[in-house]
Amino acid sequence: MTKPLIHLSTDTTSLLIKADQRLPEMLYWGKKLPEGTDLESYFHGNHRPVPQARIDSDTVLSLCPEHARGLFTSPGLEGSRQGDNWSPEFSVEEVLQQENSVVFSCRDPRAELKLSVHLKLNPATDVLESRLELTNEGNAPYQLQKLTNTLALPVAAREIQYFQGRWTHEFQTERKILDRGGFTLENRRGRTSHEHFPGMMIGDTGFSETAGSVYGFHLGWSGNHRFHAEAMSDGRRYLQAGELLMPGEMTLAAGECYTTPTLYSTFSSEGLNGISQNFHRHVRSEIVSFPEPGKVRPVHLNTWEGIYFDHDPEYILKMVRASAEIGVERFIIDDGWFRGRNGDNAALGDWYLDTGKYPEGLQPIIDCVKEHGMEFGLWFEPEMISPDSDLYRKHPEWMLHTEGYDQVTIRNQYVLNLQIPEAFDYIAGRLDALLSEYDIRYIKWDMNRELVQPTHQGKAGFHGQVEAYYRLVDFVREKHPLVEIETCSGGGGRVDYEVLRRTHRFWASDCNDALERQAIQRGASYFFPLEITGAHIGAKLCHTTGRQHNSHFRGITALFGHMGVELDPASASEEEKQAFAKYIALHKSFRGLLHTGQHFRCDTDVKETQAWGVVSQNQQEAVLMYSQFKMSEYALAAPVKIPGLNPDTTYKVEVLENSSTDIYMKQCPPWMTETVTMSGALLGQVGLMMPVLQPESSLLIRITGV
Ligand code: DGJ
Repeated sequence: MTKPLIHLSTDTTSLLIKADQRLPEMLYWGKKLPEGTDLESYFHGNHRPVPQARIDSDTVLSLCPEHARGLFTSPGLEGSRQGDNWSPEFSVEEVLQQENSVVFSCRDPRAELKLSVHLKLNPATDVLESRLELTNEGNAPYQLQKLTNTLALPVAAREIQYFQGRWTHEFQTERKILDRGGFTLENRRGRTSHEHFPGMMIGDTGFSETAGSVYGFHLGWSGNHRFHAEAMSDGRRYLQAGELLMPGEMTLAAGECYTTPTLYSTFSSEGLNGISQNFHRHVRSEIVSFPEPGKVRPVHLNTWEGIYFDHDPEYILKMVRASAEIGVERFIIDDGWFRGRNGDNAALGDWYLDTGKYPEGLQPIIDCVKEHGMEFGLWFEPEMISPDSDLYRKHPEWMLHTEGYDQVTIRNQYVLNLQIPEAFDYIAGRLDALLSEYDIRYIKWDMNRELVQPTHQGKAGFHGQVEAYYRLVDFVREKHPLVEIETCSGGGGRVDYEVLRRTHRFWASDCNDALERQAIQRGASYFFPLEITGAHIGAKLCHTTGRQHNSHFRGITALFGHMGVELDPASASEEEKQAFAKYIALHKSFRGLLHTGQHFRCDTDVKETQAWGVVSQNQQEAVLMYSQFKMSEYALAAPVKIPGLNPDTTYKVEVLENSSTDIYMKQCPPWMTETVTMSGALLGQVGLMMPVLQPESSLLIRITGV
């Protein structure tokens, strides 16, 4: 043991960890402490008292809470050797500190277990990465039930913002006050899930986009997980997040080790915007790596909602030309191109081009795409197998299932057990063959069902399937390093920082209804920057909601992301096509700002409205979207305070687009029609006057430093 007090810090944050003999414990995490603060004497004379009628000594809420130390809360580690060694007690043996990271090596020699606690506070992004590693040092196997990261929180952190959803309704935010007991969210769906995005914010009561001390958490794992926040009976609080393991799923043989997924955490004293800006910086610098750094994110045309399974190469060529005319830069053929795939009930696994539909192959289409200056992309769903497929007829045993039980279908399909080496090699081989044969620069990698009763070699096979999926993506990336990959899972069902380490964009939702997208994209923006968030202009009549919106509301909404168009441009009306071209051009003119700037959400005082925007890193340029969801309760709107501008800069404010066909106000604020300048301080503190808009419409505003 070297140093009992570890201080990791960034320009704004301090993290203090104590590790005497016992497992390390977070003493403080928050606003930065002044340089040279005498921590040792403070904590020597100011440590936690011991309450009456409880354990007679102090109990440590460590980074892996132990029952053996008298902590009656959810332990960080659960497991046993057929009942033995079920309650280990670790001692720290070594602390290895580097500038911004620390590793605590801990051991329980009786239980023959070694536990390493890894923490790394990134000074540039303010994001803390933490993970635990457990090694079985005994000869008998150790059945691991749970190993999870635990972070202590201040008593003031009483309010939780969490995320829930379903297909076409992802990233919906919910709030909860936690005063006593625990709040647990479990995901048992085998993919990151639409239902329980692995993220949570916990902060002061009433924290908002711009105010309050808040902690943000995200678990980088594309399988089952458990988030648990608890207010203990002594008032202490913590957040626990880790993989959810099924009974018997993880057994460590002698010498084997299990590492938890990485928990990404960050603190902000300036509300949720601070949290998401830290997360965005981290994604940009540490998580996503584009094959060609600096290349602009090309505008997409995805064929799915334009033609679904109805593929006619002559018609697709028309779509290619129409796409080029409106400014599309990447043309992606979605589902329906492979042998026997005429609906969603067959052919997954038969990854051979349907030469009935494409007698000349894909080449003429790819040539045309390239002649028009675009890149070509193709849809795959590699982890699946249809009962009605040649692959299933040949290898029914490759289906992920439990012997003796009927496996359910979801979207008429089964999951391919990628843990079977032959199945893995087959699918890897087919992907490699197609990517080698054609100039495919982009894969839309879909995954349209959950894992149900997945058994591999007699044990629950969730963890193994997720790891095999990662290996498969890694294989493709290694063989075809210039190919970009989109992670899609019936929309936003599989996006997290671990999948984003190997992919470059995520499809946020199968719902292209602009009104729904306003909420979905807002929810996603807490964790993901715009340049990786797939946002498309859909058809006027949205097929998942039946709503209709004009091209302007759809266009403005899709601007804020990695933009695309998902409809049939060849059959669109001239008026619609012109609007698509306009919004694509607008997106391109702002792309640099949108994809490198600082994203913010405004606190709007009128509940039927929302506003978000992006400000350039030098604070000279910003673009703001103000949206009205439904009729306002009041006849007047409230001013919108715009965070992130430089208080000392004078800005010109102008309307760029307005999707309302009319604004029913006798007089609009003058800045909407005249050239007006205002200081960043006034825009930030007093706010910009807003009109009441028509329901389901947006105003796009440009703010430029003068
Ligand atoms: C689900 C995806 O989310 C859609 O965008 C589309 O690719 C379909 N699958 C195709 O089957």
